[in-house]
Amino acid sequence: EAAMNKIKEGGSALDAVEVSARVPEADPNDTSVGYGGMPDRDGFVTLDACIMDEKGNAGCVTFLQNIMHPVSVARKVMEKTPHVMLSGNGAFQFAIAQGFKKENLLTEKARLAWEEWKKKNNYTPPINEKNHDTIGSLAIDNMNNISGSCTTSGWAFKMHGRVGDSPIIGAGMYVDNEVGGACATGTGE
Ligand code: GLY
Repeated sequence: EAAMNKIKEGGSALDAVEVSARVPEADPNDTSVGYGGMPDRDGFVTLDACIMDEKGNAGCVTFLQNIMHPVSVARKVMEKTPHVMLSGNGAFQFAIAQGFKKENLLTEKARLAWEEWKKKNNYTPPINEKNHDTIGSLAIDNMNNISGSCTTSGWAFKMHGRVGDSPIIGAGMYVDNEVGGACATGTGE
């Protein structure tokens, strides 16, 4: 709905896929993305995201902590740097320099789920849709331009430092104005 409203206002496909990813990123009840996402096995919420436009421009962040909107940081990587991907503390420092706020993303619900997981799982979490999901967005605008985004907190209770498919252009998401676009979900490994 947020993406469609953006398109109807005359926004670009790129604006639409950014805004659509930002909705679940800010939703504490969505436990696989952004704020409210399940932490890794050490209790840290670490985020991966990417964005790509119709010209083949792309930006990605991986292993980003304490920033609610990794998709918007990915867009800044695309628009403001000569690079495609920034990771970890470097991505965080870049986000702060771009005016993003440092925030605690671990909700009480996610912290309690992690405490519960620690009692039983011995650091070998099973893979299933209850501990794993991704938000992928594709849009086509009034100029017939296609853009895409993908954002996730990754595999719940993953090893610290683990990065999945979602932020990788061509794995988590790809768009091509002549052919179309696709996003992937499921187990990034
Ligand atoms: N597909 C999301 C992930 O594995 O992190």
